[in-house]
Amino acid sequence: MKSPIRVAVTGAAGQIGYSLLFRIASGAMFGPDQPVILQLIEAPIEKALKALEGVAMELDDCAFPLLKGIVQTSDPAVGFKDANWCLLVGAKPRGPGMERADLLKDNGAIFIGQGKIIDAVAADDARIAVVGNPANTNCMIAASQAKRLPAERFTAMVRLDQNRAQTQLAKKAGVDLTAVKDIFIYGNHSPTMFPAFAHATINGAPATSVITDSAWLQGPFCETVGKRGAAIIAARGLSSAASAANALVDHVRSLVTPGAIHSVAVKSEGRYGFDANVWAGMPVRTTTPGSYEVIEGYAMDDFAKSKIAATNKELAEERAFVASMIS
Ligand code: NAD
Ligand code: LMR
Repeated sequence: MKSPIRVAVTGAAGQIGYSLLFRIASGAMFGPDQPVILQLIEAPIEKALKALEGVAMELDDCAFPLLKGIVQTSDPAVGFKDANWCLLVGAKPRGPGMERADLLKDNGAIFIGQGKIIDAVAADDARIAVVGNPANTNCMIAASQAKRLPAERFTAMVRLDQNRAQTQLAKKAGVDLTAVKDIFIYGNHSPTMFPAFAHATINGAPATSVITDSAWLQGPFCETVGKRGAAIIAARGLSSAASAANALVDHVRSLVTPGAIHSVAVKSEGRYGFDANVWAGMPVRTTTPGSYEVIEGYAMDDFAKSKIAATNKELAEERAFVASMIS
């Protein structure tokens, strides 16, 4: 039996937390032979901490063989202690009529403190995945606080967008979901994101040779994926939760699976024309568990370049807006 890894989760009693923790404890995130200790962090609010107690009771009641311990705390210094993975979910979700960037002022501040504490107390091999919105910029804020952990360990989630895009292409082409491959998300987790359909394949053929309606690809397809979060809020009255938790399972599972190719928001370092210091979605290949290399060199046509320029502009504006939060 492997020794357990410590997985810290913020916002553990929230909507996403409720769909996420049971998947982690069942082995879906780290594999069926990897025991875990869950370190559950909630805001210091009585109601949230009480709800967390209930979630921990339910985790106990599942009798998951891989779950070797549960920590419940509102103290991030306790919750992130020796954590190998820090899953930063805890933050306000947006409501109807808001954009994710509207959350920056309130949520950004959370990631200053958490970035500092993670850097101080998490394990030497700690990896951080940010879900709380606006995820790319919150991730950048957290990473900017770190002096010990390198920036590439901080990733933000655009996997939900990749999953959404894959499904939309499969539906349009009338094929099974698994026939669609290599659809990657560039840029911000916001309506400006770019699902690069020109590189996708359907049953091994270029997606653009199967779906020849380029007006649909450039218009409704990009819009549907970009605005899917708002559509779910309008329908459910709450932001996506189960699909977001599922995407985080996919994000981390792919990051610990060598050879996996998937979309992750990472420090751009100037790749694909993004500003060097923003966190932008792009395709990566996992090299060793937890480490990855960015796949460079996908050719971009004029349409793709204009979409990337627009999402980069938004990321740069968000960065300027939180300049005082960046160390
Ligand atoms: P929620 O309100 O149901 O739960 C959030 C939880 O976080 C609450 O229990 C709250 O008490 C807790 N929390 C707040 N501040 C905290 C802190 N400083 N430390 C620890 N916990 C804290 O919200 P949710 O639906 O679970 O969504 C959480 C976040 O994820 C939101 O910002 C939402 O917009 C975002 N989200 C991102 C994606 C994505 O694809 N990146 C998808 C869906 C949702
Ligand atoms: C989503 O994409 O569903 C989430 O980011 C929630 C939101 O605010 O859209």
